[in-house]
Amino acid sequence: MTAETASRLPAERSRYDGATIILHWLTALLVIVMFALPHIWQQLERRTPPRLFLIDLHFSLGITLAGIVLVRILWRAVQGRRLPHAGPKLAQHASRIVHWAFYFLLPAQLALGFLLRWAQHQPLPYFGLFLVPDPFGLPLEARVVIGELHEWNAWVIIILSGGHAAAALVHHYVLRDGLLRRMWGGRGA
Ligand code: HEM
Ligand code: HEM
Repeated sequence: MTAETASRLPAERSRYDGATIILHWLTALLVIVMFALPHIWQQLERRTPPRLFLIDLHFSLGITLAGIVLVRILWRAVQGRRLPHAGPKLAQHASRIVHWAFYFLLPAQLALGFLLRWAQHQPLPYFGLFLVPDPFGLPLEARVVIGELHEWNAWVIIILSGGHAAAALVHHYVLRDGLLRRMWGGRGA
């Protein structure tokens, strides 16, 4: 099916491949957890075990998410199914911009996270299995600006994700074009 023919079909008639679907939902879940974790640990007493546990979890899940995002981008570039943007022209443009924004902002957020920890002159623990040391020797002062960028970019990603999820639900339940099924498992074209 060409992109042109597919774009004239209801969205439900085509689906992403299984790997894209799994990678999408893993990414979505981890992004939400990664955003929630700091807001929980900031409520806890400094240097207490629960707070330190959540901070370490942020790093371990962050390293995992970095691997998932890398695989996702490679998969999309090489083999992953790409579908035409659905809906009216304006919605198609918006969807194209938001999807590209995710592919730019997510790697940026992950890189900033690594750099922030290294600028704090601390290695990154991975579920107690190993430590990722700082390869750059960043100056300690860099942590302030990197920390600001990491925090602001987190908000941009989470606001975009909210808009993106709302748009998907509007497509599915208001426009009734079955868009959500593209990103859901099961039988499909
Ligand atoms: C935090 C989270 C999320 C991120 C970072 C994210 C990211 C993305 C990206 C980059 C794409 C484009 C796929 C591609 O063509 O390569 C996409 C597609 C899609 N996402 Fe998400 N997503 C998130 C959460 C959600 C949620 C919560 C929903 C549903 C309520 C959702 C529903 C969809 C659907 C239906 C598509 C296919 C859209 C289309 O084919 O035009 N996503 N997502
Ligand atoms: C989508 C992914 C991510 C999101 C949404 C996210 C979000 C956040 C947020 C909101 C904060 C708190 C900022 C503040 O209030 O000062 C934070 C702190 C931090 N994040 Fe992330 N982050 C992500 C990925 C990562 C990754 C991959 C790493 C490193 C592997 C990382 C390392 C850090 C560090 C070092 C801090 C500061 C911790 C401290 O206070 O000592 N983040 N992150």
